[in-house]
Amino acid sequence: MRIMVIGANGQLGSELVGVLGEEETIPLIHSDLEIKKEPQVRKVLRDFTPELVINTAAFHVVAECEKNDLEAFQVNALGVKYLALACKKYGSTLLHISTDYIFDGLKRTPYIETDVPNPLNVYGITKLAGEHYLRSILEEHFIVRTTGLFGIHTCRAKKGGSFVDLMLRLAKERDEIRVVDDQILTPTYTLDLANQIKTLITTRNYGTYHATNGGQCSWYDFTKAIFDLLNMEINLKRTSSTEFPSPAKRPSYSVLENRALKLLGIDKMRDWKEALAACLKEKRII
Ligand SMILES: NC(=O)c1ccc[n+]([C@@H]2O[C@H](COP(=O)([O-])OP(=O)(O)OC[C@H]3O[C@@H](n4cnc5c(N)ncnc54)[C@H](OP(=O)(O)O)[C@@H]3O)[C@@H](O)[C@H]2O)c1
Repeated sequence: MRIMVIGANGQLGSELVGVLGEEETIPLIHSDLEIKKEPQVRKVLRDFTPELVINTAAFHVVAECEKNDLEAFQVNALGVKYLALACKKYGSTLLHISTDYIFDGLKRTPYIETDVPNPLNVYGITKLAGEHYLRSILEEHFIVRTTGLFGIHTCRAKKGGSFVDLMLRLAKERDEIRVVDDQILTPTYTLDLANQIKTLITTRNYGTYHATNGGQCSWYDFTKAIFDLLNMEINLKRTSSTEFPSPAKRPSYSVLENRALKLLGIDKMRDWKEALAACLKEKRII
């Protein structure tokens, strides 16, 4: 299968290229393709005619989206629309990565794919609009919603590396680290997600999927697990989101259940703690 990966040097995109294999993939980075520009999108689809396009590109710095909602809509919604239209024209399937932030977090049990979205911020609104464009234009699509990515590769949009890298850096720089304990999610290892996507695409069972590691925790719990696994004695304190004022509201609970993957019998995602240990090993720091 010829698979085009958009955002191929990103945190998830890099992992996808590794898992799918360089011979199978057409890796495109931002300088190869600007998804906001419809003629460019049409041209790359016409030139390469891949069987499958995986779109990891997004404007996903949540606070920045709030300040620049036009840019957020152009990338997260119209960019997906242009990809869907070009895929339809040239006969490609589109797998698009979406987010837990399309939900409001008021539910206190894991969200399933059929739960009604109600985004709280511009990022979530524009990602949901991208989902709607895709569903309305192209039948042959997968929408894969995930949460709190971590992995070997740097998150390009969030300066300072992955969340794990950031915490390790703060541990060197600060006497005390304060992390929020009032946002519950499931941190998800990019390698596991990339492998899950590899399995999913072979099914051709199109539709919307949640794909996260198992279990749930707060960012504080996740940070504590990092330091515990590394046997690091760190002065780590719980705090609440009010300590870090942001222009964007965030869901306080955004755990997703991989219900559709389970029903297909292909949910391969392990518990987040096991995945974190594997990631730290892969990073060669345990
Ligand atoms: N990170 C998370 O915790 C998280 C959680 C839930 C869902 N997601 C979703 O997962 C996906 C991947 O996230 P990630 O952490 O891998 O992101 P990332 O590391 O920031 O990578 C995004 C990639 O897309 C490229 N890109 C950005 N804007 C583009 C545009 N307008 N046209 C073409 N390429 C563009 C970036 O290139 P440049 O850097 O050169 O611009 C980069 O290669 C996103 O769709 C995001 O919404 C992420």
